[in-house]
Amino acid sequence: MQTIRRVSDLRPALAAYRAAGEDIALVPTMGALHAGHMALVAEARLAAKRVVASIFVNPRQFGANEDLGRYPRREMADARMLSDAGVDLLWLPAVEEVYPEGFATNLSVSGVSDGLDGAMRPGHFDGVATVVAKLFNQVRPDIALFGEKDFQQLAVIRRMATDLDFGIDIRGVPTQRDDDGLALSSRNIYLDDEDRVRAVALPRALGVAAAAIEKGGDVADALATARDSLTAAGFEVDYVELVDAETLGEPRPDRSRRLLAAARIGGTRLIDNVAVNEHG
Ligand code: PAF
Repeated sequence: MQTIRRVSDLRPALAAYRAAGEDIALVPTMGALHAGHMALVAEARLAAKRVVASIFVNPRQFGANEDLGRYPRREMADARMLSDAGVDLLWLPAVEEVYPEGFATNLSVSGVSDGLDGAMRPGHFDGVATVVAKLFNQVRPDIALFGEKDFQQLAVIRRMATDLDFGIDIRGVPTQRDDDGLALSSRNIYLDDEDRVRAVALPRALGVAAAAIEKGGDVADALATARDSLTAAGFEVDYVELVDAETLGEPRPDRSRRLLAAARIGGTRLIDNVAVNEHG
């Protein structure tokens, strides 16, 4: 695996793949890799001849009171995992390489970015859209893969890639979960043992609510029950919402729907989501 830190070195490395007629799949990450990321790499390997992974902890997507400073950084271990998984090129730029002095552009994807996490974390999805657009322009992949765990992020990136004619096939990969159902996340390491046990209430509450809605149960009741069970487990709930799976707006029974939640336990904010299939 080649590790590249400068755009000026990235260009010729990628040009060599293209000259050989090889297509490229990109797996963008912020490092602290776990089995969820490795599932993206595995899909990428099936999808394209060459796999590029990026590690960049993007300051623009962290709010002033968020965890940028303590976000886990494990460059060596991450590089080993990517290399063992068959990644061809690791794109590992420094902050100054991505945001040189004078950088003044901000991408904002309205609609899909507005509710849910967008409402709780102002500017977060602008930061995501801006950095992902940069990564797309730097790497110019044929395919890019993102986890469904960050479902709103995936919707924002799909919208952005369509609106800006990137011509990149954006693929969502199902959430990877621990044995008890907790969605894998780089932030799970912040949970102490007790909170880790209680955290399973999040996927459980979503599963119960999704099943009730699929059976034709009242949506407001199902959401209220989910909120109550999270509170009973020790969570502070940011939101539990049923939305249209594409627009993230008002859900309609004739279109795909998604149930999303964000909740905090012991100072750690967790998010999760599940599909809600048609009932009847
Ligand atoms: O999901 C992530 O790890 C990040 O939000 C991404 C897509 C790499 C952009 O910084």
